Amino acid sequence: MSKSKDIFYQNLAQTTPFALGYEISHAEGSTIYTTDGRSILDFISGIAVSSLGHGHPAIKKAVVDQVEKHMHVMVYGEFIQEAQSRLGEELKHVLPPEIDSYYFVNSGTEAIEGALKLAKRVTGRQQMIAFEKAYHGSTHGALSVSGNKVKQAPFLPLLPNVDRIRLNEIADLNKITTETACVILETIQGDAGVRIPDYDYINALRNRCTEMGALLILDEIQCGIGRTGKFMAFEHFNIIPDIVTMGKALGGGMPIGCFASKKEWMSELSENPMLGHITTFGGHPVVCAAAAAALKVIREENLLPTVQTKADKIASLLVHPFIKEVRYKGLMFAIDLDSEDRVQKVVEDCLANGLLTFWFLSTAYSFRLAPPLNITDEDLEKGCAIILAAIEQSAN
Ligand SMILES: Cc1ncc(COP(=O)(O)O)c(C=O)c1O
Repeated sequence: MSKSKDIFYQNLAQTTPFALGYEISHAEGSTIYTTDGRSILDFISGIAVSSLGHGHPAIKKAVVDQVEKHMHVMVYGEFIQEAQSRLGEELKHVLPPEIDSYYFVNSGTEAIEGALKLAKRVTGRQQMIAFEKAYHGSTHGALSVSGNKVKQAPFLPLLPNVDRIRLNEIADLNKITTETACVILETIQGDAGVRIPDYDYINALRNRCTEMGALLILDEIQCGIGRTGKFMAFEHFNIIPDIVTMGKALGGGMPIGCFASKKEWMSELSENPMLGHITTFGGHPVVCAAAAAALKVIREENLLPTVQTKADKIASLLVHPFIKEVRYKGLMFAIDLDSEDRVQKVVEDCLANGLLTFWFLSTAYSFRLAPPLNITDEDLEKGCAIILAAIEQSAN
């Protein structure tokens, strides 16, 4: 066993007894290379993170240039740091003018924590409404508004005053009242197996929140930053949330989270009490430099119009009697098979044959795909052929 492998298993805390356990040498474009000479085609992008593939030259250059200038100099919110401002400017290009204030944190789950606090602060209310099967992260607040009861159970009590509603059930919207601080929804639910709200439903939700004075938080941590072919998934539905959370692909491969809203509301976190939400590393300059570079690439290379075409191609290739349903919006896919056992076999067989796909946390009869947005057609066809061969093989 290599020293690195030994430390990984003996000293680095594990999240699962079934870690994939490949030792990584390097990664480039849509391919990850292991120290034992394998190359793995990446149809997951670190779970919707590396949307521009691995080692994009513009992102690497931005990181190196920033490291040369400075790394951490002070906690978030005190000094003017050009890398943070550049990221702010990029976000201004792509977010609606109503969302003009961005708070940078270190991860998606932290962005959720900030968003929930902001909603309570702005409304002076306590009730939060979340969706069945939601996934918003693993810290206490984010876990409280997530829907997986098995994952919640050992960590009770979680936040009080969280009520749940079902996606696309108009009748449940009555639960949103003048007592409600916020409703939190992944614009397209990821871990639930890529569940897409009906256009009319999400517009009714938007209207009900406005009528009741409840803030609508849209979690775009997984579905945002171009993953679905629009910069933000809420653009598909012609609505604007009161608060939006981002993460994952925003950092261009570096760790970041962000919650954003209108300046007037965000300012409340700096008063009564002052320093109402603080972070040491949020807005780290190297991370912000990478994020700004990633957004610039998406904008300047005009990547988004190609996303749905690539996605439709995957959907047209993945046809097999064992595939029961393919749900997707842009390059965010759930592939339902006819049994959980087959999903297990297919994901494992794909990996053995050089293609990384992955499971969902809570949707066992499905597996997920989220390839880089700039994947070549050739790689895309190669990956789909490996999936079909694995599905065929699973019959034996
Ligand atoms: C929709 C959604 N929200 C929040 C999170 C949490 O993000 P992080 O893992 O960066 O804390 C995730 C992560 O998978 C996610 O998919």
